Parts: sequence; C-alpha cells; structure tokens
Amino acid sequence: MDLGRLIEENPGLCRLARRARQDPDAPFTILTAKIKLTWRCNLRCRVCALWRLGGRPESQAMSAADIGALLAGLVRLGLRKVHFSGGEPLLREDFDEIVRRAVSLGLQVNLTTNGTLLDKDRARTLVDSRIHTVAFSLDAAQAKKHDALRGVEGAWGMTWKGIVRLQTRNQAKGRGPVVAVNTVVCRKNIEDMGALFSLLKERGIESWRLLPVRTADKKLRPTSDQWARLKDQWSDWRPLLTRGLTVWRSPRQARLAAKGRYAVPSPVAPTCLAPWFNLFIDADGAAYPCCTGRQTMPAYGNVLSMNLDDLPSFLGGREIRASLASGHPFEVCRTCDEFHLENEALERAARKTEEK
Ligand SMILES: C[S@@+](CC[C@H](N)C(=O)[O-])C[C@H]1O[C@@H](n2cnc3c(N)ncnc32)[C@H](O)[C@@H]1O
Ligand code: SF4
Repeated sequence: MDLGRLIEENPGLCRLARRARQDPDAPFTILTAKIKLTWRCNLRCRVCALWRLGGRPESQAMSAADIGALLAGLVRLGLRKVHFSGGEPLLREDFDEIVRRAVSLGLQVNLTTNGTLLDKDRARTLVDSRIHTVAFSLDAAQAKKHDALRGVEGAWGMTWKGIVRLQTRNQAKGRGPVVAVNTVVCRKNIEDMGALFSLLKERGIESWRLLPVRTADKKLRPTSDQWARLKDQWSDWRPLLTRGLTVWRSPRQARLAAKGRYAVPSPVAPTCLAPWFNLFIDADGAAYPCCTGRQTMPAYGNVLSMNLDDLPSFLGGREIRASLASGHPFEVCRTCDEFHLENEALERAARKTEEK
C-alpha cells in the first residue's frame, strides 16, 4: 500500500493534516500499526537493545487470540496496514496463525525478520499466507562484517539462505511476497554499501531500505563525510532504494546525522504527523505513537486493558500531539526519520486542499 497515495486520495486525511498543526485534539484515523510479536531473539546485534531484554518472560507477550482481537478492533478504527517485528518474529510458534488472521481482515501485512529461521516449510507458509512484504535484515555484503555486527557467526549465511528459499518458492508459485532488504547503516559498514547494492541487485531483491543507526554510541555513527560520500552513490541505487535518507538533503543535515539527529523539520513537513495516523504496540500490548517513541514517550496505555475506541482521545496521546503541534517535540523526535515520506505526503495533500 502506498501510504502517500492513500493520503492524497483521501479528503478526510487531508483535512486531518490541515487541522493537526492547530489542534492536537483533531480526530484522527489509525492507518498503520507496527506490532512487536516477541522480545526474544536468536541473534545478538551490536546496535539492538531488544535481545538485552531477553529476560522478560514471554508469558507477558500477547497471545495470538489477543493479537487477532486487537487487529479486528483497529480495523474498525481504520487500520489498513500492519507490520510485524520483534525480537525475532519467526521464533513464535503461532506466527502463521497470527499472519493468517491479519490477512483475513483485509490488512496489508509486512514482516521484518533476520531470516535465519526461514526454512523451506516457512517459505511455503509465507507464500501461501499472502503476506505482502518480507524484509530481511542484511547489514553487509561480506559475511564476516555482517556476522560481527549481528553478534553470531554464520548469521549472514543463514539469512542469505532464507532469502533464496523465499525467492525460490515465489518463483515456483508464480507469485508471493515482495522480497526486501533492510540495512542498518553504521560506521562499521557504511563503506560496504556499494558492494551490498551490487549483490542485492544481482539477487533480484525488489526493495532496499537503509536505516540510519540509532545509538548513543558516537563511535558507531557514520561521520558527516561518510554520509556525504554515500550520497554520491544514491542515484545509481535509485531502482532498488525505496526511500532516500533525510541526511542527504543538505550538508547541514549530514552534520546533524553524525550527531544521531536524522529528522530536521523541513519546510515541506514541519511537524511529524505519525501520532495522528500510526500506532506502535509492544509485545505485551503497551501502545505508543511510534517505534522510536517506545519507552521514551508516555505510553497510551495497554491495548489489552483499554477500550480501543478511546485511543484517539487518550490523554498520553494528546500530550505527544500537543508537543509536536506546538513545534517543541520530544527530544527523541529529532533522532527519527521513519515517517518523513508520509509526513511530506500529508503536508502536500493538506496544502493542496488549502489552496482549493
Ligand atoms: C529490531 S529488528 C526486529 C526484527 C528482526 N529481528 C530483524 O532483525 O530484522 C527490526 C529492524 O530494526 C533494525 N534495527 C535494530 N537496531 C537498530 C538501531 N539501533 N538503529 C536502527 N535500526 C535498528 C534491524 O536491523 C531490523 O531491520
Ligand atoms: S536480529 Fe533483530 S531483534 Fe534480534 S538482536 Fe538483531 S536487530 Fe535485534
């Protein structure tokens, strides 16, 4: 689903974008959600905080029935697309059941996985499930570099096999999910991106997304010169890269990126509108406006114990929307570029309707 197009085609959303900046209480529609299915993981990625939460009992995670009921409730509120992540989602034994339920509700379902557990059976069930996109996390063309970043020897080989298995099943069936790759760009792998692009192109990967590393460790963040050099290669990568990076827009943004600040309010999109259309739900049901805001913004509450119809007016949500609407966002919003394309699409749509 192209959210940009959905926004532009939907007059209700254009009105929402127009009002949002003036009125944090403007009614809104939850269109997209990301749900963490588990905190558990079989890898030990250097940049990831989640596996360090491994001690958190899985009994606190939502059941498949909880997730099914939650999705049905969110569809009533307008949900169109759900993204499953984790931890490693394929560690869940009831993963297929969860995906089947989401697809049966008419949702576009996307998955992000490290792909190491994607065997032949899983490739078959994924293709049969009619899931829309499977994004594999692959951080380097060189196995040794990827394994060092992912904290487990042999991880690259297992992920690559997962990619090949899914593509093979897609080919056999003549249809299947979009096979995508996510790459977290940090100082240790940024020079490897050209080689990775060539490898992904040769393999027939359909979409590639670069995620700038979010970390407090300054030594893991690319320098502004490294970001600028990466930008020089961007035009060659355009056929694969679905989204560019905000850090490429100006030398100033590259300097801010080197400090971990990926979001610079632009004249095109001065406010992040994610809290007006997106929801992030942790494995235990705790809800936030977005993944970046998890545990750094006030939680909306737990979706298992609240009436979902109350979500749009929930007090915690109002505080977050008010901070954005007033131009004084939470500090974490400066580190995030996750929704820049959606924000710009919403702003453009709002301006168009203003001009009419
Ligand atoms: C948390 S993982 C969960 C799904 C799955 N285990 C995987 O690795 O794909 C979701 C995505 O976040 C990325 N990620 C993890 N830590 C990150 C960080 N510090 N900064 C940016 N992206 C990060 C991962 O590479 C992955 O593409
Ligand atoms: S594989 Fe995913 S969840 Fe696991 S440690 Fe790495 S980024 Fe985190």
